[in-house]
Amino acid sequence: MTGRAVVKGIGHYLPERIVPNAEFEATLDTTDEWIRTRSGIERRHFAAEGETTSDLASNAARAALADAGLEPDDIDAIIVATSTADLTFPSAATMVQSKIGMTRGFAFDVQAVCAGFVYALCNANALILSGQAKRVLVIGAETFSRIMDWSDRATCVLFGDGAGALVLEYQDESGTNADRGILSVDLNSDGRFKDLLYVDGGVSTQTTGQLRMQGNQVFRHAVEKLTNAAETALEKAGLENKDVDWIVPHQANIRIIQGTAKKMGLPMENVVVTVQDHGNTSAASIPLAMSVGKARGQIKQGDLIVTEAIGGGLAWGAVVLRW
Ligand code: COA
Repeated sequence: MTGRAVVKGIGHYLPERIVPNAEFEATLDTTDEWIRTRSGIERRHFAAEGETTSDLASNAARAALADAGLEPDDIDAIIVATSTADLTFPSAATMVQSKIGMTRGFAFDVQAVCAGFVYALCNANALILSGQAKRVLVIGAETFSRIMDWSDRATCVLFGDGAGALVLEYQDESGTNADRGILSVDLNSDGRFKDLLYVDGGVSTQTTGQLRMQGNQVFRHAVEKLTNAAETALEKAGLENKDVDWIVPHQANIRIIQGTAKKMGLPMENVVVTVQDHGNTSAASIPLAMSVGKARGQIKQGDLIVTEAIGGGLAWGAVVLRW
């Protein structure tokens, strides 16, 4: 027998306001056509004034708890993956703890930008396998609209706000790769590339800052690094690309998603794609895609999933799990 961290429930939340590409045509030298062809994005959601990351995260958390049939106090730990927490401190995770009415356990944030949810899953897996927590609420939540430079057409049209949440629970399994739950993980970062994607402000500089990106440079790294991480994680689990039912990729750009699937030799029929509706929601994109993929009837119990992401740092990674 082997312990595994198994998905018990999932949910997501998107802010009400939907912004179609055409809205940017009024203020920027851009077109709906350019944004669609270069990124695959058609629309994104933006948080309302006063609506914060922990609000989005709490709504997603409630949905995931309802899906799992659990109460807040059934949870031992909350991990929120975010780069856009409400305040410098306390963590967004402790704010979620308070907002959903959880009065026990512990909560903390993980910051690995767009790879944040993959990093958070790995942390939750480690907590569960080491016996420190039986159930972990893993959340990805972002309000990237708050760190956009609205005059930079090469970045502000690409990002959106949202949140997704997953409940992982300890379960005894057989110890083979036919088990449900997280089967393997692969994490990487390389700080030499820190200038390709960053926010030019922060606590130490007493500013909030705005997102800066060398998009074509990030693009160049993305397909290769994502494919390597996904294939390394599959190898660690003793599995092959052909065993994968669903790739659930970080939703940054349809061309990166297509390029990675192609390099892995998998058709787009095996990829959950939500980038057209959400844009790049950074750490929220994977749990959002998983939740939508399940609601669409794509992801079913027993399916083998590889999820992968890359973002600022550069930081990237992949997780293989059986739903
Ligand atoms: N509308 C119209 N033109 C635009 C534009 C916009 N919104 N944004 C950029 N352009 C222009 C550029 O100014 C450039 O013009 P120039 O040739 O006159 O200088 C031209 O389009 C090509 O720019 P380039 O950056 O080479 O385009 P691209 O094909 O690489 O697409 C991205 C740009 C940003 C969509 C693409 O590089 C990308 O998606 N990169 C990865 C970014 C990403 O996913 N980051 C997050 C990872 S977590």
